[in-house]
Parts: sequence; structure tokens; C-alpha cells
Amino acid sequence: MDLGLKDKVAIVTGSARGLGAAMVARLAAEGARVVVTDIQREQAEATAAALRAQGHAVHCVVGDITKAADVQRLVDETIATFGGVHVLVNNAGMPRDKYLVKMSEEDWDIVMNVMLKGAFLATRAVMPKMIEQGWGRVINISSRAHLGNPTQANYSAAKAGLIGMAKALAAEEGRYGITVNCIAPGFMDTEMVQALPTYETIKERAIQAQPIKRAGQPADVADAVAFLASECAGFISGEVLHVTGGRYG
Ligand SMILES: NC(=O)c1ccc[n+]([C@@H]2O[C@H](COP(=O)([O-])OP(=O)(O)OC[C@H]3O[C@@H](n4cnc5c(N)ncnc54)[C@H](O)[C@@H]3O)[C@@H](O)[C@H]2O)c1
Repeated sequence: MDLGLKDKVAIVTGSARGLGAAMVARLAAEGARVVVTDIQREQAEATAAALRAQGHAVHCVVGDITKAADVQRLVDETIATFGGVHVLVNNAGMPRDKYLVKMSEEDWDIVMNVMLKGAFLATRAVMPKMIEQGWGRVINISSRAHLGNPTQANYSAAKAGLIGMAKALAAEEGRYGITVNCIAPGFMDTEMVQALPTYETIKERAIQAQPIKRAGQPADVADAVAFLASECAGFISGEVLHVTGGRYG
């Protein structure tokens, strides 16, 4: 199936590693020109260099998604380098899991800032160009945690917020040929979850709760991103695609 992504320009935030790195690799494999962007310089540059070595068109921008000036530079450089911006994946994020009574304001603010404010800043920055092009795809990486997980009041609130934001923007921007959707991954075996002290338990419990009995892999989410970014998904907007091995609730 031709996804129609050849020469499209795609920004994936937080794409130095993990799910984001798999997304840029998948989009590049479809012929898209991709922008690797992350706060982690070394890893972002290594990810971009590896893709470039495979012959893909890649630009790398190091920056903090919570800073409006960094985000504007990201979009300005993308347009200056590739002439447009067609796909934005709001992927940068992280958990700061604690029971509410132990959750600091800092734990709350960083999760809100990186995931919700970051998505707001990046989407606002790409929107004028997408409107001018009459074509755009925005994909917010939410999580099954939008349904609510203990110790994740901050994370669940931000992930549910990304869904509300996508539905509002789907209604607002559809007239310009722009779709806005969410992907809600379940447990995915990445460095983010491998770093949690409860990694083995979480992984075991997730597999038990899923009808499909294996750990989710970055490629599972990257495939869903490629589909929602494609011409094939042009009549789908305001949706939440669960990539959870069949687990709901
Ligand atoms: N791994 C999972 O099980 C899972 C499940 C559901 C949703 N998600 C979501 O998917 C996304 C990617 O997760 P992952 O597992 O690949 O995590 P990861 O930690 O491997 O990757 C996240 C990336 O975001 C970057 N980042 C963090 N703060 C940033 C900032 N201020 N500015 C720019 N970049 C920043 C990090 O440096 C990192 O490279 C996150 O939003 C996460 O919440 C992950």
C-alpha cells in the first residue's frame, strides 16, 4: 500500500530514542523527509546520523519542547531546510509517578509542561504552514493511561488532555485539510519503562491483561503513526487509536 508519504516533511518531538526514534525511522522508510528533535543532544544527533547513513533526508534540531523560542526555531529550521511541514507527531513525554500525597508541584508541572504545553506550542507553531499548504497531519501520542492509573494523576491528566486538545483541533482545523488524531499506546518496551524500578512487574501485568500475549514494541506504534500520517487516513480526525494488544480499560 502506498501511504503517499514520499517527500512529505515530518517532525517527531522526542525522537532521539524510544517510540519517537522508531517513528522517524518508519516515516523515513516511507520516503518522508524527517526532523529528529529532542532535548538530548548526543542521542538526537546519533539517531539523525544513523538515518542519514541509510540515505534518508534528515534534519536534527536540539531543543526543549516547553520553550516557545526553541519550538519556533524547530519549525523555522524545518521550513527553511525542507520547504514545508506536513506531519507533526507530539511524542515527547515522560512519567513522574507518585501517589498524589507525595506528588510535588514540580512532578505535576514538568509532566504538564512537556506533554501538554509542548504539544500546544509545537502544534501552534506548525499550523500556519499547514493551513497555507491545505494539508496537515497532527498526531498526539497519548497513552492507555488516559483511562486513569494509580500513581499517575499527572500523567493520566496530561494524556487525557492531549485527547481533548486533538478533538478541539480536529473540529477547528479540518476545513484546511488538516487531521488531528491521537494514538494511545499500552505497555511498550522502551528505555522509558525499562528505567522504572517496577519494570518487570509492569511488563508481566500488562502482558497478562492483554489478549495479545507479547510486549508492545516501538514498531507497533510507528506503524500506527505511518497510517494516520498517510493519505489513507485523510477522512479520519479527532480519533483515538489504541495500540494496546487489544486491552481496553
Ligand atoms: N513506553 C510506553 O510504554 C508508553 C506507553 C504509552 C505512551 N507512551 C508515550 O510515548 C512517548 C514516548 O515514550 P518513550 O517510551 O519512547 O519514552 P523515551 O523516554 O524513550 O522518549 C521520550 C523522549 O522525549 C524526550 N524529551 C523529554 N523531555 C523533553 C523536552 N522538554 N523537550 C524535548 N524532548 C524531550 C526525551 O529526551 C526522550 O528522548 C511519551 O509521550 C510517552 O508518554 C509511552
